[in-house]
Parts: sequence; structure tokens; C-alpha cells
Amino acid sequence: ATDSIIPNWREYKMLPAMVWFGNPGLVDFAYNDWQPRSDDIIISTFPKTGTTWMRDVCRHLIYEHDSIEFQFTKLFLGPHVYLETGTEEKYELLDKLPWKRRILGTHLSAGMMNLERIRKSGAKIIYVIRNPKDQMVSMFNMMKSLSNPDNQTMQMFPSDFNDFALAALEGKVLVNLKPGQNYFDHILSWYPHRHDENVMFLYYEDMKKNPAEEIAKLAKFLDVYISEEGAKNIADLTSFEKTKQRMKDGVPFQFYNKGSVGNWKNHFNVALSERVDLEVKEKLAETDIKFTYV
Ligand code: A3P
Repeated sequence: ATDSIIPNWREYKMLPAMVWFGNPGLVDFAYNDWQPRSDDIIISTFPKTGTTWMRDVCRHLIYEHDSIEFQFTKLFLGPHVYLETGTEEKYELLDKLPWKRRILGTHLSAGMMNLERIRKSGAKIIYVIRNPKDQMVSMFNMMKSLSNPDNQTMQMFPSDFNDFALAALEGKVLVNLKPGQNYFDHILSWYPHRHDENVMFLYYEDMKKNPAEEIAKLAKFLDVYISEEGAKNIADLTSFEKTKQRMKDGVPFQFYNKGSVGNWKNHFNVALSERVDLEVKEKLAETDIKFTYV
């Protein structure tokens, strides 16, 4: 019954995309078999929109700072807890975690997830949105830092930013959407769920501008009590400057670059910027999604 919803992952392997994120069997498994817990938190993002930051904020909100969970999630911040990566054994392990709340992640588009079952379980989903120009630059920098001549996938990776951005618009960078779809289609897939009782949309740029306020909203959504002072404290602890130091704790450097709004201006020419604006207009005209570029 899910075949019409989940695109055929095996065919995806044949597509000329640069990042193939996820294990097709596991996407099916998560859809058909996985039972979320009522207190699970799922951070859903398109890559490079602030995933790692949001997970860090949640970790600070949920766990006592001297707890084993807090320490452990520091190491657990890697790809391990994505719903679609790894193996089914990972789920067995996850089910054994005695933690009060699990912080999970996904880059899947909404149609690839069993949102009905997740909603019924009570698990909550946070969807982070970042302006697409900074997102593209962030992705480009990450891919560049990961490129090496022995990696076949990476050989398809354009070393010129303009080419990379055009490939991203054509949906050739990441395959967890339908063929040819891009970041905007990812947003569009989630958009109809923005008012679901267990879904919260959040903007990276709002987090940058008013971190304590956004964290307070988030806490409310997650049913976590936090004082104004506490929200400010977490905003400070998870600020870019403080977080970047965590590279020492084993978080790969690709996840921390400039952490700013507007870095795209150093990489975009006018034509490319207009090309993205046009795509935004065409794809998101019917929505109230508003990107912040400065
Ligand atoms: P830049 O490449 O623009 O610096 P993701 O975690 O989804 O891969 O997103 C990575 C982006 O989030 C990177 O953007 C990274 O620097 C930024 N980032 C990570 N931690 C952050 C923080 N605490 N505050 C602001 N931005 C952060």
C-alpha cells in the first residue's frame, strides 16, 4: 500500500545524484514497522539548514546537563540516529535505550514517512527551514570538504559553485525526493503538515535573530518547562561560537562553517540569485513561506 507513496528507492541508485542519503530497506522498515514512542522528538530537515544546531538545542532542553544522556548524545550526534540510515539492528538498539526522550533525525520528504502513525504515537516533529541560498553554499562547502578523487560520487561534484547550484536546482544533489525535485519540493512536502498538532516549523534565521525566544517556543511545543533565564542560557550554550568548539568533542567540522545569515552573497552572482528567486516564486507562491536572506 505504501508503494505509491514511497518512491522506488532501488531506481534511485541509478540516478545521477551526488548524495544518496539513506538505506532504502530502512526507509521501508521505518514506514511499515517502526513504532515511535509518545515522547520521541524527530528533527526533520533538508541537509544544511541547521540540523545539528537544532539537535543540540533539543539536547540541552531535554537532558540534565550532567546526565549520561547528555554526555552520550554528544557522541551520538553523528548520522546514527537518522531514521533512514544504518541497519535494522540500529532500531533494536534504539528501542533498548532507557532514555526519557529520544532525539532522532531525518532528511526524508514527508511522503516517505508514515506521518499518520507518528502523529498517533504522540511523537513530535520539528521542521527547520533556512534560506535556500545559504543552504546551497553550506552544502557546497561540505561537499567540497568531503571530496576526494577516489570517491566516485564526488567525481560528479562540480567544483564551481554556479554549476553546483544549478545542479541543486535540478534536483541532482540529493536523492530523497522524487527524481528532479529540490529543496523547495522538500519544503512543499512538509508544508501541508505545518499545523499538525505534533509538528512545528522553525526558521534558522529566527533562531539566529532571537534564539532565546525561539527556544522558549520550542520548549513549549515539547512540553518542557523552562524559565526565561534558562532559555537565554541554552541560547548562549548553543550559540555558534560556543558550539564550534565542540569540534573537539568529535563533531565533524563539516557541520560548522560560518553559521551565519547572508554568506551566500560571497558566492552568488546576480543571475544565479535571480534564478533562485524565480524558482522560489514558481514553487512557493501558494505558501506563506518567507525566506530571510540578510
Ligand atoms: P554554514 O555552512 O553556513 O556555516 P546542518 O547541521 O543541517 O548540516 O547545517 C549546517 C549549518 O548550520 C552550517 O552552516 C553550520 O555552520 C550551521 N550551524 C551549526 N551549528 C550552528 C549554531 N550553533 N548556530 C548557527 N549555525 C550553526
